[in-house]
Amino acid sequence: MKFTHSSNAAQFAHANSVILPLGADQLLSPSLQAADQLLGGAIQAAIDSGDLTGKLQNQHLFLNPQGSPQRILVAGTGTSDKLNAKKFRQLTTSAWAAMQSNTGDLVHNEIAMAASTSLDEADMVRLTIESLQASAYNFNQFKSQPEDQPASVEIQLVAPASAKQTTQSTATAAAMDMCRDLGNLPGNICTPTYLAEQASAMAATSTKVTADILEEEQMRELGMHCLLSVGTGSVQPSKLIVLNYQGGKANDAPHVLVGKGITFDTGGISLKPGAAMDEMKYDMCGAASVLSTMQAVIDLDLPINVVMIIASAENMPAGNATKPGDIVTTMSGQTVEILNTDAEGRLVLCDALTYAERFAPASVVDVATLTGACIIALGHHTTAVLSNDDSFAQDLMEAGKQAFDAAWQLPIGDEYDEQLKSNFADMANIGGRPAGTITAACFLARFAEKYKWAHLDIAGTAWNSGAKKGATGRCVPLLVQHLVNQA
Ligand code: BES
Ligand code: MN
Ligand code: ZN
Repeated sequence: MKFTHSSNAAQFAHANSVILPLGADQLLSPSLQAADQLLGGAIQAAIDSGDLTGKLQNQHLFLNPQGSPQRILVAGTGTSDKLNAKKFRQLTTSAWAAMQSNTGDLVHNEIAMAASTSLDEADMVRLTIESLQASAYNFNQFKSQPEDQPASVEIQLVAPASAKQTTQSTATAAAMDMCRDLGNLPGNICTPTYLAEQASAMAATSTKVTADILEEEQMRELGMHCLLSVGTGSVQPSKLIVLNYQGGKANDAPHVLVGKGITFDTGGISLKPGAAMDEMKYDMCGAASVLSTMQAVIDLDLPINVVMIIASAENMPAGNATKPGDIVTTMSGQTVEILNTDAEGRLVLCDALTYAERFAPASVVDVATLTGACIIALGHHTTAVLSNDDSFAQDLMEAGKQAFDAAWQLPIGDEYDEQLKSNFADMANIGGRPAGTITAACFLARFAEKYKWAHLDIAGTAWNSGAKKGATGRCVPLLVQHLVNQA
């Protein structure tokens, strides 16, 4: 699926297929008037007969005997005060399904011209591109008999004032596909080494990006014993994967993105129950979202500096695995008593956060499938934001709002931090059952004191369980929007 931008409404003779919105007021736009003429008055006749109402979900496909365009779909968009983001997503995907477009088609789509009081044209461009690309997504690479591939088509979106949004959303949608692919890959393929190879390959495509892959040996020299403790039970070597994108001036402070890259989380010696353990292949979705966001940054050629750091390991039980009660020293010098080896995300992230100091960052955002408690708190709809700077948390929530990729702030503070007290080390890696998402963030905050920092817990938003099991590509839209806002 390819998206292009057009500012020419009503000029669709060159297209194979056309999608035109009709509001509940049933007023014919210039494009609908032109289409009605082509069809010998069939659109007005369908309105008069009550077949075409303009209500949401009411749509009608006209075949054009003249041939070009071959099909004209009129899609009801309802009343302007009711057309919100959720309804618009349904509208655009169901109109697409009704079109049954063929391979090689050029589709002229004016859906972004629908009347809405809550969505502007750019919003509709964004929602159209991102929802159509998401509905066309499939992950067939391990099926010996892949199902039908979606049609390869060019969708020409008519949105006179939103060329930039088309570009941003095209890059965002591609990055979401990449993020979903990485999340869906099984743990036997997507290892820390695999993630490092993907990052290196990405760097090789752009002169503005350099890759630096730190091996266990180098991490040991830096004192990252906390990160290393997570992978000791695994035969897969841990990696710290760094990409440095220089799109701004040489001494502009970079925006740093840190991702949790646990390529499989068994829980380690604090072993998880067997049911649905396969889903823990997604425990690198933080890494997948920051890596995919870097691809979007490259595609959009953003004029800022961005550093990406992925802390990657496989969390396995073994004779040499870390045990409950083990004490490790972090790169920062602070010591941690590992009371539960299943709280491993924070153990890899804390050393990555200390490593981030060397970039003198403008800000640091870490992204992680960190806590099951986050799913209890916010469900699968909203990403949790926790920060040492409330206005930074606001900025990220605002980016999420702009991108229709919701995020909501949870508090952090001393009263929660106290739950991390250890009798034997500077802190424990767990804070008990109450407020699990917050105490996890309090742990991270102890390693992020030297800069403006926020943590995104995507445990609930990064994937769907059940029949639609798979990675979602969230929170790529939020991250891309956040970086666009810095440019
Ligand atoms: N990767 C999990 C968090 C998770 C759980 C993500 C379920 C998505 C779905 C994380 O490493 C973990 O195991 N967290 C523990 C922390 C606890 C031991 C303090 C959890 O949430 O149970
Ligand atoms: Mn875990
Ligand atoms: Zn985990």
